[in-house]
Amino acid sequence: MRKSVAKAATPTNLPRTEREASSVRARAPRPRFKRMTIADVAEVAALEARVFPDPWSADSFLAEVERKPDIGYPVVMRDGSDLVAYAVVWFVVDEIHIGNVAVSPDEQGRGLGASLLTHVLEEGRRRGMVWATLEVRPSNVRALALYERFGFEKIAVRKRYYANDREDAWVLACTLERRPERRVG
Ligand SMILES: CC(C)(COP(=O)(O)OP(=O)(O)OC[C@H]1O[C@@H](n2cnc3c(N)ncnc32)[C@H](O)[C@@H]1OP(=O)(O)O)[C@@H](O)C(=O)NCCC(=O)NCCS
Repeated sequence: MRKSVAKAATPTNLPRTEREASSVRARAPRPRFKRMTIADVAEVAALEARVFPDPWSADSFLAEVERKPDIGYPVVMRDGSDLVAYAVVWFVVDEIHIGNVAVSPDEQGRGLGASLLTHVLEEGRRRGMVWATLEVRPSNVRALALYERFGFEKIAVRKRYYANDREDAWVLACTLERRPERRVG
């Protein structure tokens, strides 16, 4: 992955005009969302193990797939047949809790995380949820930047939350009454 990033950064590989840039964007794949099924679980667990130092097991994802649809929404994002991202969210009374979200390392920084977050928050709004919460490591600057852009704010700290290294978790929340992702410009 580092190699292809370095190659893309050389001047000869950069789009030279706005028209070329928009044609590059137009050719960019448009991933699709689908509720996670048993058939996705092994692939999701393999991606999870690539992106997290303390990954959920395949059994954890299986439990999410088998959870009642009115309580949980595990979702995969595919570009053709390739798994590029996934999320697991839960609906608790009027709150959507984001339990897991990840984008394939090869696809990060292309807007897929924002697209996935938009999708699950829209699903929450559709089901009448009025606020969203999640836990994040304070060291995870990329995730924090994404969540802040959507209007999430820190509301609490869970001390030594993560089992593998005892890093704290920040609890972030945002209201869904308006579309938070459009408030930030
Ligand atoms: C966090 C994660 C889901 C973000 O997904 P992504 O597809 O990489 O993010 P996007 O391309 O949609 O970028 C959204 C925002 O993230 C931030 N961002 C993206 N790349 C970044 C980088 N290299 N450094 C800092 N911030 C960055 C920017 O604020 C960006 O907004 P912008 O496009 O207006 O600049 C993804 O990086 C990931 O899966 N990380 C590993 C797993 C993880 O940490 N999950 C979250 C656990 S709480």
